[in-house]
Amino acid sequence: MDIDKIRSDFPILSTTVYGNPLVYLDNGATTQKPKCVVEEIDKIYYTTNANVHRGVHYLSQKATDLAEESRVVVQQYINAEHSREVIFTKGTTESINLVAHSFCRQFCKEGDEIIISAMEHHANIVSWQLQETIKGIKIKVIPINEKGELILDEMKKLISTKTRLISVTHVSNVLGTINPIEEIIEIAHNHDIPVLIDAAQSVQHMVIDVQKLDCDFLVFSGHKVYGPNGVGVLYGKEKWLNQMPPYQGGGEMIGHVSFKGTTFNELPFKFEAGTPNYPDVIAFAKALNYIKNIGLDSIKSYEDELLQYCSDELTKIEDIRIFGTSEKKCSVISFLVGNIHHYDMGMLLDKMGIAVRTGHHCAQPLMEELGIEGTVRVSIAFYNTKEEIDRLITGIKRVVTMFG
Ligand code: ALA
Repeated sequence: MDIDKIRSDFPILSTTVYGNPLVYLDNGATTQKPKCVVEEIDKIYYTTNANVHRGVHYLSQKATDLAEESRVVVQQYINAEHSREVIFTKGTTESINLVAHSFCRQFCKEGDEIIISAMEHHANIVSWQLQETIKGIKIKVIPINEKGELILDEMKKLISTKTRLISVTHVSNVLGTINPIEEIIEIAHNHDIPVLIDAAQSVQHMVIDVQKLDCDFLVFSGHKVYGPNGVGVLYGKEKWLNQMPPYQGGGEMIGHVSFKGTTFNELPFKFEAGTPNYPDVIAFAKALNYIKNIGLDSIKSYEDELLQYCSDELTKIEDIRIFGTSEKKCSVISFLVGNIHHYDMGMLLDKMGIAVRTGHHCAQPLMEELGIEGTVRVSIAFYNTKEEIDRLITGIKRVVTMFG
């Protein structure tokens, strides 16, 4: 990979923070955008802006075509069988809420169970907790071991005749663990249980083939895949989406509306009430094509190299605790050094131009499990460099000296 060329596609990477060249290592929270994505948003507003699926006029048709082409780009990116299995949402959170609401409404009764894991983001916890109140379902939690890996034997014990769905993250946004989703899906399907995969932290780092995986639902956000904010994806197998009732009511999700009753549109529109965020949907395709052009396999091996280097260098720091030590990790390293508060570490690194995330990372139950309040989190993207990791390590050492 030509990193210099790649970095020149991301102008923000050449900026300075407090007089230091920016080292952006908060890619798990959001990724930076290549010029082609930002330029596409401009272009749409300047040349093609019109509401989609609602106009007979030229601009509306053109915008509609581009938005639907984007759906096909997403379909191909995850190798879905049909483009109608791709629903555009606001982001991962909305995608999970949609499934929790519509799936539970159709398939769950009081006492039924949903299995999640101890390392889930709040989005994959609270969405189901809302259904505990609404539908009387129960949540069961797959525990983790000391390396931060799911204990699948325990998951098997949690499965019962009442289990309606298993919803797990592919890659932990705190531990970086890559979960064995192939095995989870196989176990679940042996019990006729569908599986939702939260791919928010994986789809930008590795090839995902939903047909090969055979997952029932897969969700992710555009802004973590170098795309615009406010666009997300819900992939769902047609057989599930067809049976699920709409999530929201509004324009374009209907067949016919009358005060006597309303019929609903077909997939994917049944789940896309209201004017969609078509400018960002269109620009999102640019981001996915940009990644495809570099190649996810090259991205993965380069990022793995950086992750290993970062991990090796961090391990040399005295009194460091790394949370998540699985051999199968991706992009993310969480740590604490001695008694230095994660917030202090983050603030001081920031003064050196180094952006990391601190806190509970929207995973408070996991923090409770680890017996901590928060961590410092480094999350790597393909535009990062070994020199930037060196700056991070030097920065951490400086902070340690300050507290020494
Ligand atoms: N879920 C995002 C993160 O892990 C915001 O930082």
